[in-house]
Amino acid sequence: MEAHVSLDKISSEAYRTLLGVEKAFSQSSIERAETMKVVVIGGSGLIGTKLVQNLRQQGHEVVAGSPSSGVNTLTGEGVAEALAGAEVVIDVANAPSWEDKAVLEFFETSGRNLLAAEARAGVRHHIALSVVGTERLLESGYFRAKMAQEELIKAGTSPYTIVRATQFFEFVGAIAESTADGQTLRLPPALMQPIVSDDVAAVLAKVAVGPPLNGIIDIAGPESIRMDDLVRQFLSARKDPRTVVTDPEARYFGVTVNDRSLVPIGKSITTPTRFADWLGRSQA
Ligand SMILES: NC(=O)c1ccc[n+]([C@@H]2O[C@H](COP(=O)([O-])OP(=O)(O)OC[C@H]3O[C@@H](n4cnc5c(N)ncnc54)[C@H](OP(=O)(O)O)[C@@H]3O)[C@@H](O)[C@H]2O)c1
Repeated sequence: MEAHVSLDKISSEAYRTLLGVEKAFSQSSIERAETMKVVVIGGSGLIGTKLVQNLRQQGHEVVAGSPSSGVNTLTGEGVAEALAGAEVVIDVANAPSWEDKAVLEFFETSGRNLLAAEARAGVRHHIALSVVGTERLLESGYFRAKMAQEELIKAGTSPYTIVRATQFFEFVGAIAESTADGQTLRLPPALMQPIVSDDVAAVLAKVAVGPPLNGIIDIAGPESIRMDDLVRQFLSARKDPRTVVTDPEARYFGVTVNDRSLVPIGKSITTPTRFADWLGRSQA
């Protein structure tokens, strides 16, 4: 399995891009790159909507592609038309069904269709959003499908960057519900380093104006927190009276997790937004 891109080993241009990703958060205005056409697959989703807005604010021509706008990577419908003249494609789509067979079919077929269309259109940079620790979570059909998506990209001809993010703050509610049994939620005390969707979109927008790294970068939020405590904070902020029981045997979407399963191992980019600040301003 390919190791993550080591920041020490990549080209100085790519290294500056990565440093720029971190610096961008402390700058009042993000440096303007030359404008280009960017296609965001999954442009109507949680990350996609924010990414499309961010790129448009930088002056780029952005197509927000998804089935609701006639662009379907699973069937191929509308893909060639959307990609005509595009320099960069960012794939932030997600599968409608996470059932083992359906999700694998989604990421494999969509990935193949998209990469083939990119080769025909002469796209110079394919960017995909994946999940930190994917290779450590393969007990789950969802992560086997994300791995298949990554492998297709690595084996393909499009220059690429895979950005792996940790769990979104907006996903904590779904984690909670996945373990709910009446008034009790059983969660493992596995370490997490969750991230807010706005910061994921900001990193992707920065990667889009940089060179392809032909490798993987990990991004994560600023704080390490155990899954059971994270959900306790979430329920408390939502005034949800249910009880979280810490259970080291409890699984995360069917996967046995430990302190190294969900957090970046090795170098990663740290984003600024803290969970408590997001909880305070969000009803999600
Ligand atoms: N949740 C997490 O904590 C987390 C963490 C790290 C990485 N990720 C990754 O982040 C990515 C984006 O997640 P998200 O939560 O932003 O997704 P989301 O809100 O569920 O949005 C999914 C998007 O995919 C589109 N889509 C569905 N079927 C499609 C098809 N056949 N062709 C083209 N587009 C299609 C949807 O379009 P319509 O609106 O038209 O249906 C929608 O725009 C996923 O790949 C996920 O693996 C998630």
